[in-house]
Amino acid sequence: MNKALRKAVIAGNWKMNKTPAEAKELLDAIKPLVKDADCDVVACVPFVDLSVALEATAGSNVKVGAENCHWEPSGAYTGEISAPMLAAMQVPYVIIGHSERRTYFGETDVTVNKRVKAALANGLTVILCVGEYLEQREQGVTGEVVALQTKIDLQGVSAEELKRVIIAYEPVWAIGTGKTATAAQANEVCALIRATIADLYSKADADALTIQYGGSMNAKNAEELLDQPDVDGGLIGGASLKPEDFAAIVKAASR
Ligand code: 13P
Repeated sequence: MNKALRKAVIAGNWKMNKTPAEAKELLDAIKPLVKDADCDVVACVPFVDLSVALEATAGSNVKVGAENCHWEPSGAYTGEISAPMLAAMQVPYVIIGHSERRTYFGETDVTVNKRVKAALANGLTVILCVGEYLEQREQGVTGEVVALQTKIDLQGVSAEELKRVIIAYEPVWAIGTGKTATAAQANEVCALIRATIADLYSKADADALTIQYGGSMNAKNAEELLDQPDVDGGLIGGASLKPEDFAAIVKAASR
């Protein structure tokens, strides 16, 4: 983490967990534990929890995010939520392109790019997820895969808009498996993403970009991962549902 150049951001991705009542309870437990954080703290929650989450975190340093949004502002897209809907609720963050969306719901870099652009056009800050499958790592194409995702997912995004983009490097084989990338592996790919951004934009833009690692980050391994120069935060799944564990990761990012 290089705090002189960029912001550390720890974001929880709650995935398909917690009813509104449970969301309030979890946020009420998290808030006092992270109130002195010297990093940005975000909780990305299911759509039905957004209202309650915004209310529960009002006046605190915990910011709220959604887990996806559609690229059209409105229309016949049963089951989808648009970026203007999130903006109207004053939701500041949205995750786009999570590997679970890509794997289980057929999202491609083309649809991810459309969603990224819609979110940015509506004033949201995007947490854009990229990462390779295990077989791609074994084939030695991690760098190519992640660079390609980065390039396509950000097509048409201006340098000005890039200031509202966070990239989360999440190796798919590390998500929910307990298999964390080593600190060196995480840093290598985060650095490669930064180099890709430097090529696409500029070195200054790349230096200012927050790049998170995600995939079985927990209270024990957070410090070592966050000590890496190109790892600027974490996107946390399972551990974000446990207040003490999430707070320990926030503490590691606050050093
Ligand atoms: P886990 O932390 O549960 O491995 O999930 C990571 C993730 O997918 C965050 O988006």
